[in-house]
Amino acid sequence: MKRFEGQVALVTGGARGIGRGVVNQLAREGAVVGIIDLKLDLAQAAAAEVIAAGGQAVAYGGDVAQRATLFDAATDLKQRHGQLDVLVNNAMWVRYGAIEDITPEMLQRMVGTGLYSVVWGMQVAAEFMTRGGSVINVASAAAFLGIPQAMVYCGVKSGVLGLTRSAAVDFGPKGIRVNAVAPGSVPTEGVGVNVDAAMVEKRIAKTPMRRLGTVEDIAAAVCYLASAESAWVTGECIKVDGGVTHAFL
Ligand SMILES: NC(=O)c1ccc[n+]([C@@H]2O[C@H](COP(=O)([O-])OP(=O)(O)OC[C@H]3O[C@@H](n4cnc5c(N)ncnc54)[C@H](O)[C@@H]3O)[C@@H](O)[C@H]2O)c1
Repeated sequence: MKRFEGQVALVTGGARGIGRGVVNQLAREGAVVGIIDLKLDLAQAAAAEVIAAGGQAVAYGGDVAQRATLFDAATDLKQRHGQLDVLVNNAMWVRYGAIEDITPEMLQRMVGTGLYSVVWGMQVAAEFMTRGGSVINVASAAAFLGIPQAMVYCGVKSGVLGLTRSAAVDFGPKGIRVNAVAPGSVPTEGVGVNVDAAMVEKRIAKTPMRRLGTVEDIAAAVCYLASAESAWVTGECIKVDGGVTHAFL
C-alpha cells in the first residue's frame, strides 16, 4: 500500500524546484496532485511528467497571493476527486538586496507570495479538508538566521512559523495538522537569482554536512508530515538544513 493512495494533495509553486520535488514524491506514493503555479505552462509540464510516470496530476495557473487562485484549484480538485487531504504551501518569490533598495512592489510581492498565500491556504484547509488533513508550510532556515540583505525574506519566513503554530492550535480539533519544513540551501532556479557561486561555496563551508540539500531531502520531510506517520505532530517545524542553523562558525 502506497502512503498516499486515495488521497488528494495540492502543492503551490509545484512547477519547478522544491515544489516539483514534492509533487513527484507525493504522486509516486499514490496521491492525486494539484499543481498551482504562476507559470501555467511549467505546471502543465510537471503534471505531464507525473502522468507519464503513471501518476495523477492536474495543473492550475495563478498567483497564490490571490485568494481565488487557491479556492478555484481546491474547488476543481474537489469536483474531480471529492476531497482535499494534503496542502503544501511552497510558492515564494524572493529578491535579496540592501534594505534601502526595497521597493513597495518587491515588498508586496514577497509578502503576497510568502504570507498571504499561506493565509488563503489555511482558509482552503478549513473549507475543503472535511475529513481532516495535513498542511505543510515551506519556511526556511532564514526563519532562524539573520541572512545579510534578506530582511524581508527572513521576516516572511519567520511569519510562516507563526501562522503554522496558531493554525495548528485552531485546526487540531478538526483533525487538521499544520506543520512547517525549514530547508537550508537547495540549488534551484529561485536561489540562482539571489545567490552567486562564491556565496554557494560559503554556504557549503558553513554547513556541518558540507553539501547543499536536494529537492528530495526536502520532499522526504514534507511527505513525512503529510503522512499518517506524523499523526500526532502539529504546530512543529522540521529543519532540513544539514545543520546550518546550529553552526556558529
Ligand atoms: N531553494 C532553497 O535553497 C530554499 C531554502 C529555503 C527555503 N526555500 C523555500 O522553498 C520554496 C521553494 O523554493 P524554490 O527554491 O524551489 O523556488 P523556485 O523559485 O525555484 O520555485 C518557486 C516556484 O513558485 C512559483 N511561484 C512564484 N511566485 C508565485 C506566485 N505568486 N503564485 C504561484 N506560483 C508562484 C514559481 O513560478 C516557481 O515555479 C520557497 O518557499 C522557498 O522560500 C527554498
